Amino acid sequence: MDTAAESIEALSHESRRFPPPAEFAARANAQPGIYEEAERDFEAFWASWARKLEWSKPFTRVLEWNEPFARWFGDGELNASVNCLDRHVRAGRGGRIAYYYEGEPGDRRAITYAELLRDVCRFANGLRKLGIKKGDRVAIYMPMIPELPVAMLACARIGAPHSVIFGGFSPDSIVDRVNDGACVALITADAGWRRGNKVPLKRNCDIAMEHTPSIKHCIVAKRIGDPVLMHERRDLWWDEVIDGQPDTCEPETMNAEDLLFLLYTSGTTAKPKGIKHTTGGYLTHVTATHHLVFDLKPEEDVYWCAADIGWVTGHSYIVYGPLANGATSVIYEGTPDFPDKDRLWQIVERYKVSILYTAPTAIRTFMKWGDEYPRRHDLSTLRLLGSVGEPINPEAWMWYREHIGGDRCPVVDTWWQTETGGIMISPLPGISHTPPGSATRPLPGIFADIVNDRGESVPLGGGGYAVLTRPWPGMLRGIYGDDERYRQTYWSKFPHKYLAGDGCRRDTDGNYWFMGRIDDVMNVSGHRISTTEVESALVDHHRVAEAAVCGKLDDVTGQAIYAFVSLRGGEIGSPQLADELREHVAEKLGKFTRPKFVTFTQELPKTRSGKIMRRLLRDVAEGRTLGDTTTLADSSVVEELKERAKIEVTQEE
Ligand code: WTA
Repeated sequence: MDTAAESIEALSHESRRFPPPAEFAARANAQPGIYEEAERDFEAFWASWARKLEWSKPFTRVLEWNEPFARWFGDGELNASVNCLDRHVRAGRGGRIAYYYEGEPGDRRAITYAELLRDVCRFANGLRKLGIKKGDRVAIYMPMIPELPVAMLACARIGAPHSVIFGGFSPDSIVDRVNDGACVALITADAGWRRGNKVPLKRNCDIAMEHTPSIKHCIVAKRIGDPVLMHERRDLWWDEVIDGQPDTCEPETMNAEDLLFLLYTSGTTAKPKGIKHTTGGYLTHVTATHHLVFDLKPEEDVYWCAADIGWVTGHSYIVYGPLANGATSVIYEGTPDFPDKDRLWQIVERYKVSILYTAPTAIRTFMKWGDEYPRRHDLSTLRLLGSVGEPINPEAWMWYREHIGGDRCPVVDTWWQTETGGIMISPLPGISHTPPGSATRPLPGIFADIVNDRGESVPLGGGGYAVLTRPWPGMLRGIYGDDERYRQTYWSKFPHKYLAGDGCRRDTDGNYWFMGRIDDVMNVSGHRISTTEVESALVDHHRVAEAAVCGKLDDVTGQAIYAFVSLRGGEIGSPQLADELREHVAEKLGKFTRPKFVTFTQELPKTRSGKIMRRLLRDVAEGRTLGDTTTLADSSVVEELKERAKIEVTQEE
């Protein structure tokens, strides 16, 4: 039997195209010809981007490729914090705002490049004084407060790779990550704000640190001022660490291939993978892509990536890319519905945000809340919108474009992964004629393909596995401590190709349409159907806010389609509506894609990074006992769903 991705059937046909507005195109950072330039000599292309950085020792070698291990700019030396900070201050841009910070309760700070450099230097000096040195790994578990990028950049300054652990993780997850990296210090805060509640970060660290023998110091930033236990000798307040430290700090000289950070991502086994990113190639990749894809004009734009710094999106496009480019960015601590569902739009208006980058799950949530919230605010400063993290269905793409972008802003759907370090497949906003819902094509200097089960390139119009066919500067340098797993996971299925793990099809124009992870492909009566396409068809119905689809084992058809649906405006479903939705899907995609089961629910179970937890939905659909729910953002959702699946499931006759 061939595998699921081999012949994913491309069911819906999208013929709409959105070209860039003429004024946008005329001023765009990326101009036509850039693809050809990169195609002619991709190493020279990346080298020219690398040379825009500041190197204390210029590189003479570009790429050394010893599959699957790459070295980029391998004899060059540089420091990431110098590139993000000192360079701008020295050039007279120290007074520019680096971050507008807004806490969830409404506290605000504007931090200039000069101030950020000073804070980083003082903290870096403090870390050094504690004995932390080049090569030591430092774990960071913090809320979205300015001290988080300060801590990361201070680590980069002294050459201590950071390992940021998303602030929503549990103590067990901290233990796994800290021990895998044998981190010597843990930087945290007393607590953080989330939807008006206090998240007890230090307490979680205390529980974790009972099982992390490598941690010698825990540094605690005061965010809320709640009392916390401070373990004598081990625990120190942030203010004690920086007390009396000078405003300048000699940066560590780093080889381009020295480790900049570890970031853990889940794989198919229970053990998370510590993805390794190094200094020169990573910084080159995120700086170039931030400039080209977001069209950043650092003197004019206010840029906001509304992700969490605890994920790769925040590392690359809140911290390293934007700072290296001298951007003015927004950082917001809390949730989009606090105190009301217009918080993001209030922030866009207040800081005159011109570039906004967020996730499809957020966009679909905003759709569900309704357009009255964005309508309360002046969003006319926006000129570019971005999306990342999952496939964006055309309906959500159109809503984003119309209701947030006022029908004038190009939308860039950016495909990439923790492993790729930076954006790989995305429109260039001044060039691309973009179909709603497509990431379009590989960026200049990036080489991808769609292959079938035998690793053969699939002709345009077909679908299969997304692979990357040449090394790129931001690529992972491996999995921490486990080269074999690195080979096995990414390089073993097809010779000389990096397996991304995503199913994808290409339309006849060569646009890429990502369809979700390859394990999200269903097989119904021999038809390969992407869960994403059915979800997209469901969300296309005017009463549907969000949908998640999975396969349920079926004696006759192999799998049957099971849809979990939440409705707009908090509406409750009915058997009639379930039938209407089935018909709608049948009309959009074909009769064989009608969901057999429909369960209405107020909320879908999501991880804290906003990804729908399909594994749990499959468990609910199959009536199994539920597996691990610790990464769920809101565990009550699943209980509700289980009850509803028992009682209210409507099954087609
Ligand atoms: C998915 C996030 C479709 C994909 C940057 C990938 C996407 C995984 C897109 C990586 C997109 C990310 N369209 N799917 N624009 N962006 N994905 O490591 O399945 O958190 O493999 O990195 O998210 O998730 P990660």
